[in-house]
Amino acid sequence: DGGTFVPAVVVGTGYGAAVSALRLGEAGIPTLMLEMGQLWNQPGPDGNVFSGMLSPDKRSSWFKNRTEAPLGSFLWLDVINKNIDPYAGVLDRVNFDQMSVYVGRGVGGGSLVNGGMAVTPKRSYFEEVLPQVDAAEMYDRYFPRANTALRVNHIDHGWFEESEWYKFARVSREQAGKAGLGTVFVPNVYDWDYMRREAAGEVPKSALATEVIYGNNHGKQSLDKTYLAAALGTGKVTIETMHQVKSIRQQKGGGYVLTVEQKDVNGRLLATKEIGCRHLFLGAGSLGTTELLLRARETGALPDLSSAVGAGWGPNGNIMTARANHIWNPTGAHQSSIPAMGIDDWDNRDAPVFAEIAPMPAGLETWVSLYLAITKNPERGTFVYDAARDAMNLRWTRDQNTPAVNAAKSLFDRINKACTTIYRYDLFGGQAKNFADDFCYHPLGGCVLGKATDNYGRVSGYKNLYVTDGSLIPGSIGVNPFVTITALAERNIERVIKQDVTAS
Ligand code: FDA
Repeated sequence: DGGTFVPAVVVGTGYGAAVSALRLGEAGIPTLMLEMGQLWNQPGPDGNVFSGMLSPDKRSSWFKNRTEAPLGSFLWLDVINKNIDPYAGVLDRVNFDQMSVYVGRGVGGGSLVNGGMAVTPKRSYFEEVLPQVDAAEMYDRYFPRANTALRVNHIDHGWFEESEWYKFARVSREQAGKAGLGTVFVPNVYDWDYMRREAAGEVPKSALATEVIYGNNHGKQSLDKTYLAAALGTGKVTIETMHQVKSIRQQKGGGYVLTVEQKDVNGRLLATKEIGCRHLFLGAGSLGTTELLLRARETGALPDLSSAVGAGWGPNGNIMTARANHIWNPTGAHQSSIPAMGIDDWDNRDAPVFAEIAPMPAGLETWVSLYLAITKNPERGTFVYDAARDAMNLRWTRDQNTPAVNAAKSLFDRINKACTTIYRYDLFGGQAKNFADDFCYHPLGGCVLGKATDNYGRVSGYKNLYVTDGSLIPGSIGVNPFVTITALAERNIERVIKQDVTAS
């Protein structure tokens, strides 16, 4: 159509996007959110919105012929992934040359598929990563604001100690203890009271029915239940789903025009639209936002964008690994899919690691202890635009993950030594492999705060253009990142609304 105009457009519906839309709506600014994925609120033929983790169907994956689960094998057998029809499912795995990145697709972005671990970073490390941000203001005001709005809650310690569903975490805690390592409880946005009622058989099971990476049918307070519900509640915010922003150009006299493709859930193009706006907020995630700006710079649509667009990317030091326990030390056939505890060795100067004790909810005893280690890897990748494919590549080589693997190895070698146990080599694909170093859950950077933008996410070289999401964080934050993304977005949007939006 000939073009719609809205005062503010927000691209994406993940954490940064949701924060921005809520605060714009509260300020009375008519705001349109554009999301390439679906709104996940319609039950399928089985009565559930999402498909389960152990028997995924097409709802699980974003246009794949076969699911691409992080654990690709068991006893080296290809028993985990399933053939499916290509469809606008909820979890995407974006495969670059030597690194794959998992992201959520749909209203709520990563909140639909993630483990809900809601961790505020250590202040000293936050100050190291983002020295130009006033940490006192963050820790006094924006982190608390984010935690409240996200409905972060804490597991009941008494229940944790006695529940069969967290035996796997208690086993890992004891083994870490033998190696002299400490553990911490980790807050979550999954409603722990709901989980206790699941365990008591009072409500339909979700976390206790292995649901997580392909969506939780119950219990999880994902963004569609929190920030986005509040944003819609202002009456000023609307969300268009299955709308993918393809390109951005400047409008004469100020503002921006977006070219947007609307597709159906099977990938058929329904319409190509032009949407104009005065203020444009990019919340398409580290990959999505960076690609839009790189394309704009390299095609000459926004030629004054900084050369820093595309730089400073990292996987938050993510390394997955697993240990094999002795036969007399089972981890439990019943495991909650929501992690509750981490091994905290971040203050180890030689090899800082924060390792989430991850469940392996297989429905049978596996004797596996699984971990997602977050390490401090100084290596960074760079996104580059590939004109032939009109898409971006990631310059990141496998060996850049060596520092991360070494840090994880030093921690888990200690545990194995103390417990006379060994690694599992069968879980990460065809060959013997004990560290998964080729995928991540925590893509960060690409449009780094203070480099590709000013200190509040205003894109350098252009007025009224903002980055709001994980692409602002320079590759590492030392813990699971969504609380930081949310709090930083809260800080930035408050300033931008006051100085740029309501003042204009
Ligand atoms: P996010 O990726 O959430 O949202 C971007 C949105 O934009 C998506 O909905 C996408 O579809 C949309 N989009 C992209 N391009 C677009 C375009 N061109 N047009 C329209 N829409 C577009 N973190 C954490 O803190 N605790 C945890 O426990 C976990 N666990 C975890 C597990 C798994 C399996 C994954 C994949 C990830 C996690 N994470 C996590 C990471 C966390 O989910 C992630 O850091 C945030 O979702 C990132 O938030 P953003 O706002 O940056 O974008």
